[in-house]
Amino acid sequence: MRLANKVAIVTGAARGIGLAAAQLFLQEGAHVVLADVDMAALREAEHQLAGQSAAYVCADVADNNQVKALVDKTIAAFGGLHVLFCNAGIGGHSHFFWDYPEADFEQVLDIHVKGTWLCMKHAMPHLMKQGGSIIITSSVAGKLGMPKGMAYSAAKHALVGVAQTAAIEGARYGVRANTIHPGPIETDMVRMLEAGLSPKDPLQGRDRLEKSIPLRRYGTAQEVAQLALFLASDESRYITGGQHMIDGGRTAW
Ligand SMILES: NC(=O)c1ccc[n+]([C@@H]2O[C@H](COP(=O)([O-])OP(=O)(O)OC[C@H]3O[C@@H](n4cnc5c(N)ncnc54)[C@H](O)[C@@H]3O)[C@@H](O)[C@H]2O)c1
Repeated sequence: MRLANKVAIVTGAARGIGLAAAQLFLQEGAHVVLADVDMAALREAEHQLAGQSAAYVCADVADNNQVKALVDKTIAAFGGLHVLFCNAGIGGHSHFFWDYPEADFEQVLDIHVKGTWLCMKHAMPHLMKQGGSIIITSSVAGKLGMPKGMAYSAAKHALVGVAQTAAIEGARYGVRANTIHPGPIETDMVRMLEAGLSPKDPLQGRDRLEKSIPLRRYGTAQEVAQLALFLASDESRYITGGQHMIDGGRTAW
């Protein structure tokens, strides 16, 4: 039980990486609050995880009041907070930067960067009581450029600065902060990436993506969840401010 009696919030937890992490954290003894903006998907997750020590909160991470309510509900349900997994995200639309609509650009930055900061801001008074771990999902696009995805790449790069600053400011309170950087992962989001790369034939997009990965396959949500678990647990107690690639070697080329 690597997270016995710890309380964790996972955002973007209704599907994909967030749901896999919530499931794994529960298996490892944590009480988990699953937060997502998609109420219907959250209900499905609730059905799937029935009987476990979990709570479900519909919240938009980019909305200050909703994030505050999420943290308040977590404390009311489980009495504290030890782990914050800031994972909610959207891919954004595919456009060259000179065509990128301003509203879309702002939405991507809002959800990833402002949303992550808001979750950290409201969680911090509780994390600092006994120490804790903040894990932020960046991407290989937080290390490299992403054709037709400037907003996404900018947001994912910004999250490195968010995590590193939190690592420095949180250290004296025993609060660690790290980014994880997945390459293509087998979730709904990667379908949009494939379609953006090759609108007429998404399978061709997949083929191109797989060929760019030394291990020649996408990762799974469960594999990313394992990394999040390690960073959430005390096994990683000396690791903070780090950028952890989980990309089958994509950024090693
Ligand atoms: N799948 C990949 O290939 C990949 C690669 C690198 C990074 N990532 C990142 O991993 C994270 C999880 O993505 P995924 O692949 O599981 O995608 P996903 O689309 O399966 O899940 C993302 C979840 O975030 C939720 N969400 C979106 N906006 C939200 C908001 N404003 N407030 C609360 N919840 C919101 C969605 O409803 C969804 O349930 C994202 O940050 C994504 O950018 C994914």
